[in-house]
Amino acid sequence: MWGGRFAAGPDEVMAAINVSIGFDRRMAKQDLEGSLAHVRMLEAKGLISAADSSAIQSGLGTIESEIREGRFPFREAYEDIHMNVEARLAELIGAAAGRLHTARSRNDQVATDFRLWVRDEIDAGVVQLDALIRALLDKAEAHAADVMPGFTHMQSAQPVTFGHHCLAYAEMFGRDRGRLLDARKRLNESPLGAAALAGTSFPIDRHATAKALGFDQPMRNSLDAVSARDFALEYLAAAAILAMHLSRLAEEIVVWSTPQFGFVRLSDRFSTGSSIMPQKKNPDAAELVRAKTGRVFGALIGLLTVMKGLSLAYAKDMQEDKETVFSAADTLALSLAAMAGMVGDMTIDAQRMHAAASAGFATATDLADWLVRTLNIPFRDAHHITGRLVKLAEGRGVDLTGLTLHDMQSVEPRITNDVFGVLTVDASVASRTSFGGTAPANVKREVAAWRARLAQS
Ligand code: ARG
Repeated sequence: MWGGRFAAGPDEVMAAINVSIGFDRRMAKQDLEGSLAHVRMLEAKGLISAADSSAIQSGLGTIESEIREGRFPFREAYEDIHMNVEARLAELIGAAAGRLHTARSRNDQVATDFRLWVRDEIDAGVVQLDALIRALLDKAEAHAADVMPGFTHMQSAQPVTFGHHCLAYAEMFGRDRGRLLDARKRLNESPLGAAALAGTSFPIDRHATAKALGFDQPMRNSLDAVSARDFALEYLAAAAILAMHLSRLAEEIVVWSTPQFGFVRLSDRFSTGSSIMPQKKNPDAAELVRAKTGRVFGALIGLLTVMKGLSLAYAKDMQEDKETVFSAADTLALSLAAMAGMVGDMTIDAQRMHAAASAGFATATDLADWLVRTLNIPFRDAHHITGRLVKLAEGRGVDLTGLTLHDMQSVEPRITNDVFGVLTVDASVASRTSFGGTAPANVKREVAAWRARLAQS
């Protein structure tokens, strides 16, 4: 492509370090879309003849079907996807192919392709997130009133409903969804026509190509257009946070599905056995979702490092922007699919969760609150009285409901029989109706609100 100035071809090592067709071929579809928009604009502006334009367009159409049918000859000799397409176009239609690159450079071309590619991944990611959120809503609805232990420090703290726990993840994934869509808004401007770095002397119409490619507008500065990669970084940052959220749910599934917890059972479709221990059913998918987070974090740090300290405008460093983004996107797609499948399939052992929730004096806070509410005792004193009652019960080997009224009154004489109404875990969760609280009534209302929100978007 630059033979005019060069007497010799590249050294083998030079070719090996320079070549990107091995990975940027994944942007073939976007490259063809960009070229099609560009050539139509060149024709509309009278920059190439109608005959050349239609030859180029039909050649691009042939290439599109060659790629779709796996017949396209991807060749390392042509370095990257842009030159592979152009070289093939020349083979197919001859000299007119050379007019496609008028008023364009690979610098704005690659920036355009990559934006389109990341945009497609964002859209696909949002669809997958919706499916995962819906799977969580189904579980939340079915188990709105099923009580489980809520933990702090991984120690039983207060009873919560399983539905409320599921909805916590719906909230997290909902914000991830928002982050992706927010990144999409800033991403959605067209670099095409910025050319190498300075714009072009041809009277092109960047608004037309932007519109044809579904961008909101052309980028306003040619230097920025060819050297900005923050769109990919924002995608990776959103992806990294999402992967972190996935890993937290994965970890809970690993814990919940142990025989010791036994809160959930994974389906055979999403677990594996052991080759030596016949009794085992392992949550491999959850463990892998937890582990694959590292790839996504790595991609973010990797690209930040590639971009750090790069002066304007394009530098070949930027060719290193793609592989890790591709890998992060693949990882995310697989992890989201696995998580949606696991959540959709898993069955909940409501009895075991209820029994676990009832152990460990989980309603101690309810008792303290009762002392405050009914006897007007300051919370700090109520906390102290409750602590003594817990100690008493512990000594007897019973839980709080196992104490008699007489026992209770030995610590605080004003306690009445009424207190036993707040000591069950079901009463505890039912009472937590404050906004955002765990009560079954709240869970049902939030599920409905989520469904309405998802139906709108
Ligand atoms: N393969 C290159 C990349 O991915 C395309 C842009 C090359 N531009 C250049 N001036 N060498 O970044």
